[in-house]
Amino acid sequence: MFAKDFILNFDDSNFKDGVYIHSKAPNSDLYELMWTYQKSPENPRPWGINRIPKFLDFVGGLNHWPKNPVVLDLACGLGRFTIASLELGAKFVVSCDGSYTGPKHIHDMVTSANIAANQFEDPTQKFDLANPATFGSKHLAVQVDISRLAECLRPGMFDLVFIHMAIHHLEGYQEALKDMAGLLKEDGILLANYWVPGTMDNITYEMRSIFLNEPRERIRDFFIATGHIKTQAKQDDFNFDSFLDDPEYLSDYASYKEPLQKFSEKYGRAEINQRLHWENMQTPYLHNFSHAEVVRYVQDELGFKVLNKDEGRIYAKRKTPGLLGKLFNN
Ligand SMILES: C[S@@+](CC[C@H](N)C(=O)[O-])C[C@H]1O[C@@H](n2cnc3c(N)ncnc32)[C@H](O)[C@@H]1O
Repeated sequence: MFAKDFILNFDDSNFKDGVYIHSKAPNSDLYELMWTYQKSPENPRPWGINRIPKFLDFVGGLNHWPKNPVVLDLACGLGRFTIASLELGAKFVVSCDGSYTGPKHIHDMVTSANIAANQFEDPTQKFDLANPATFGSKHLAVQVDISRLAECLRPGMFDLVFIHMAIHHLEGYQEALKDMAGLLKEDGILLANYWVPGTMDNITYEMRSIFLNEPRERIRDFFIATGHIKTQAKQDDFNFDSFLDDPEYLSDYASYKEPLQKFSEKYGRAEINQRLHWENMQTPYLHNFSHAEVVRYVQDELGFKVLNKDEGRIYAKRKTPGLLGKLFNN
């Protein structure tokens, strides 16, 4: 399979160092910073830890993993689940993200076959994994804004289309799920997860008012200074009490002290410190979606059969028309 099999209005000159550039997401600057940090040696947490069990948990177990599927990993980030899909035998994977840094990192990994070894929490778990040397020829990296997905990818190409930990960062879920559904083959599987009511609480939503429109680099640096982004250079010596009480302590960030003090008085210091989370504070959208609503939409509007029962995740298959349906459509 080739790039032109997947891309509508394919133009060879749209490749930039191995990544096909269609469009960038409005929030891409946040993720360029985030993924640049995450893949840097500064980050003490290695990429891709436990990716196979985490991915199988998302899929719903090995028996829900289609045989040698053609896969779309949408909002792929740094591609831990793209690599897990290839390792589990995917025939081909297209990785799409609104950032450039994410897909570029995946392209570099698969073309060099330089992929961090799997580390399993449970060492007794054994999987028959595909050879990484084959991944370069089974992969396409694309930068595309999800809202323009249908302009970018050819419909009806995929056995499995998934979006992991990203749909709640979009304005709404319906358009994305509809466009994802359009990319599936007749028996293809649509897979997504999302926050449900209660996951993101009011304290987080209130605190976002401090950070949402602040400059990206400043917020990254603030979160490094406060130990909420870990770096190799800086150990965990941040003290939230000192930050709130001592005007000299991290005085570069004085403007955040007063609002954080106010929230601390209302909710308690530990609660507020705990909720200082880079992505949650800066992502333009942070929704909780009603699971029942998502299920209803996927069943009634998209015409899929929802096959899972757990909340906050949807694993659904297009209902293929029975004989009568086929006769009727002809
Ligand atoms: C929390 S990360 C999840 C990454 C990956 N799926 C994972 O689980 O490791 C959210 C991802 O959604 C992507 N994203 C957010 N909004 C997007 C949009 N409008 N178009 C394309 N990608 C988007 C970001 O670039 C980011 O890589």
